[in-house]
Parts: sequence; structure tokens; C-alpha cells
Amino acid sequence: MENKKNGFASGIGFVLSAAGSAIGLGNLWAFPYKAAKGGGAAFVLLYIICVLLIGVVTMLCEFHIGRRAAANPVTAYKRIHKNVGWFGLVGVAIPAFIICYYSVLGGYTVKYTLNSFTGNAGILPTFSTNVGEVILYTAIFAVLALVIIMGGVKDGIERMSKILMPLLFLILLGVAVYSLCLGDGVREGLNFYLNPDFSAVTFSTVLAAMGQAFFSLSLGMGTMISYGSYTGKEINTVKSTAMICIFDTLVALLAGLAVFPAVAHFDPSLLKDAQGVGLMFSILPEVFGSMGAVGQVVSFLFFAMVAIAALTSVVSLVEVVTQLILQRFRVSRRRAALGVTLVCFAVSIPVGISLGRVGIVGEAGISVFGMDLLTFFDEVTNTVLMPASAFFACLVIGWFIGPRDAMREMEDSGTRLGFLKKIFPAMVRFVTPALILVVEVGGVISKIRAGQWFVVVAAYALVGLAAAAYFLFFKKQETGTNADETL
Ligand code: ALA
Repeated sequence: MENKKNGFASGIGFVLSAAGSAIGLGNLWAFPYKAAKGGGAAFVLLYIICVLLIGVVTMLCEFHIGRRAAANPVTAYKRIHKNVGWFGLVGVAIPAFIICYYSVLGGYTVKYTLNSFTGNAGILPTFSTNVGEVILYTAIFAVLALVIIMGGVKDGIERMSKILMPLLFLILLGVAVYSLCLGDGVREGLNFYLNPDFSAVTFSTVLAAMGQAFFSLSLGMGTMISYGSYTGKEINTVKSTAMICIFDTLVALLAGLAVFPAVAHFDPSLLKDAQGVGLMFSILPEVFGSMGAVGQVVSFLFFAMVAIAALTSVVSLVEVVTQLILQRFRVSRRRAALGVTLVCFAVSIPVGISLGRVGIVGEAGISVFGMDLLTFFDEVTNTVLMPASAFFACLVIGWFIGPRDAMREMEDSGTRLGFLKKIFPAMVRFVTPALILVVEVGGVISKIRAGQWFVVVAAYALVGLAAAAYFLFFKKQETGTNADETL
């Protein structure tokens, strides 16, 4: 039972760890403002449809690609067919890029948590351009993730998720209840967030909802393949997928309830600006700052919760790359994790500098065609690479392995598929890949139309590089499995 030894010890531990990967900045930060901008409850409805039609199927595919091989994404795809192993390398390159910007934002959340009692209002321009501080907090965040990964899947990731995820949920519930009880402005905040406005739904809203589902559920970034590889037959992936999708959506919805009533209570005119970096690191600190001593406590809890969410997500991203390194190069988990952390940390330094100078303050600085590095990395991964990677996952389950075999494997854990059995074959072969293609093509066209062709070029160049690297360095080499983690 190699999975028992190196993998998740319990179903609930697996669900909380995968939910920890899914629940992150995407839920607590991006979802609320995207919903408010995209027609309120109309966007929420659209989002739920995307989770059902794309999210559930893709997540099941990724879990089973990992589980079949009990190995990193490269070995997992390679076992399906030697010539598709490069899909796995693309799936590992994506989290490597995301870690480099996610850690910077994670560092921001640590800074804001620790600074809550001194006051975070107005510190964004000074903090974000203070290179030393940005590096310091990014490093603190990266070290926290490293310590967890070094502990291994069962004693590090699973143990941490069992403590942190319930804590996150309790804090979020507490802050949402507090926010909803503020009185003045609550109704306006709720209207801004959830008032259904179907006229605001355009094709770009649909694309935004689909893209949000990928990012929020951690799909197309190797993590669910990696986490799935650490499960055995004793873990019911279908039930787990349902629970992860429900938790993830619930947290995203609650985040809006925690944020908008409080913003409207403080100053309704700020609602329209409550987007992007501004909402989390500029507007909310103003709101908390206006609440006196209680605000300091709420601020501490809120940012601690966001830091926890970011941490559990980045841990899953680092794990994907660590898993490949340790299995391919036969090094210890500690060394592999340290190597991945150091390289990503080095890259995150220019990303952090660029975000502060170019993205936040709007000065000249390190950028790609005028785009700050964080936005660039985010666009390359989110808009082009993640849908492509999720498409590969559906492709191999739908057409290489075949839905029947995949369902047989799902049933191995005693799962009764019920209605899913009827629809899964058509979903995985046609519906979900077709919808993912819409996201991919729509995303590419939108970038080109916005004059951001360099995002598309960089993304596809990366796919080409990953494919070349695979055929040169991975295809003929043994790329290992979870059982190799015995050093
Ligand atoms: N799924 C993670 C998030 O939502 C990456 O932030």
C-alpha cells in the first residue's frame, strides 16, 4: 500500500487538503468582485453551471490520472502513453510559475495580518515599493510553505489542512456574520454583490466565470493530479470531488458576504472601486481602520484567514513541482522542496518589485511590454495554459483511457456513480472539452484584441519548451513514482 505510506491517511484529510488547494485568493479576493461586476446573482448562477459542467468532470479526470500511476504528473501521463508525457510537464510548469507570484501576494497577506494592530490603512504604496519588506514577507510565506511540504503528504500537508481548513471556515463565518450585522449599508452592499442583473452578462462574463472556475478549483495546474496520486481505493474520489466543489463555492460566496456589507457600511461610494489589489489591500484596510479596536481584531482575523487560504494553496503548488523533482532525480523530499522553494523565491523577487512599482504605484520598472510581472505570469497561466492543461486531462480520460475504464476505477472504491454513470462518457468526451476549448480560444482572442499578444506567444512558447524538454530529458528516463519516496 504505497499510498498509505506516502499518501493521504484518510478521506477527510484528502478532502480538506484538496479543498485547501482550491480555496485561496481566487475565492476570497477575485470571486466577490468578479461576481459584483458580472451581474451579481447572475454571475453566481453562471459560475455554478461552470463548476458543474467543467469543474466536476475535470477534477475527476485529474484525480484519476494521478491515482492510476501513483506518481507525479509526468510519470502519470507517460504511463498513459509515452508520447503524451509532455502534457504532464506542462502541468508542472504551470504551478512553478504560479508559485512565483502567489508567494508575493501571500507575503502581502502575512504583512497585513501582523500589521493589523498598527493599522494597514494607506500602507499599500509604501509597503509595496519597499523592496526589502516585500522580499522579507515573501520569504516568511515561502518558508511556512516549505516547512509543511518537508513534513510530507500525511504528516505535513494533511495534518496542516485538518487544522487550518476548519479554522479558516470558522473565521470566515464569523467575519461574514459580523459584517452582515453592521446595520447601515448592509443592504446596499448585498445589492451590489448579489442583485441579479442579466443584462450585465456578456460573452466575456461567461469567459470570466469559466476562468474563475479553473483557478478557484485548482484545475489545470497539476495539483489535483498530484493529490490524486496520493489516494488509494479507500478514498472515494466522486464524493470527495463533490465536497471539494461545494466547499470551494461556499467559501467564495461567503467571502462576498464578509466583504461588501462592510465596505458599504464604511462608504458606499467605494463599492465600485472594490476590484483587484485595491479591494483586499487598500479598501478593506480603510474599512477595518474605521472600526476602532474591534476593527483591528477583525482585520487580524480576516488577513490571517486569507493568509491561511493562500498558504494551503501554495503548498499544493509547491508539492507538484517537488513531487516531480524528488521522483525524477531521486533526491530526498527535503532537498527537492528546498530547491523548488529557492528557485521560485528567486523569481518572485523581481515579480514583487514589479508589482509594487509598475502594478500598484504605476511607475516605470521591471515589466513585460508595460505589464507588471505578476499580471503577466497570471495571464500566461490563467488565460492560456490552465485551460490547455485541463483540456489534456479530459482528452486522455475521454479518448485514451476511455470513460468506461475510468468509471470502473471510480467504482473500485465502492462508489455508486448513479446519474453520473449515464452522463460521464458524453461529458468527458464532448461537453467538457468543448467548453474548455471555448475558454482557451476565447481567452486567446481576448488577449490578442487587447493588444496583449505577448501573453499568448509566451504561453505557447512555454508549451513548446516543455514538450522539447520532455522529449530530450524525460521520455527515455525513469521518472519515478510515489513509492520512490523512501530516502
Ligand atoms: N485555487 C487557488 C485559489 O483559488 C489557487 O487561489
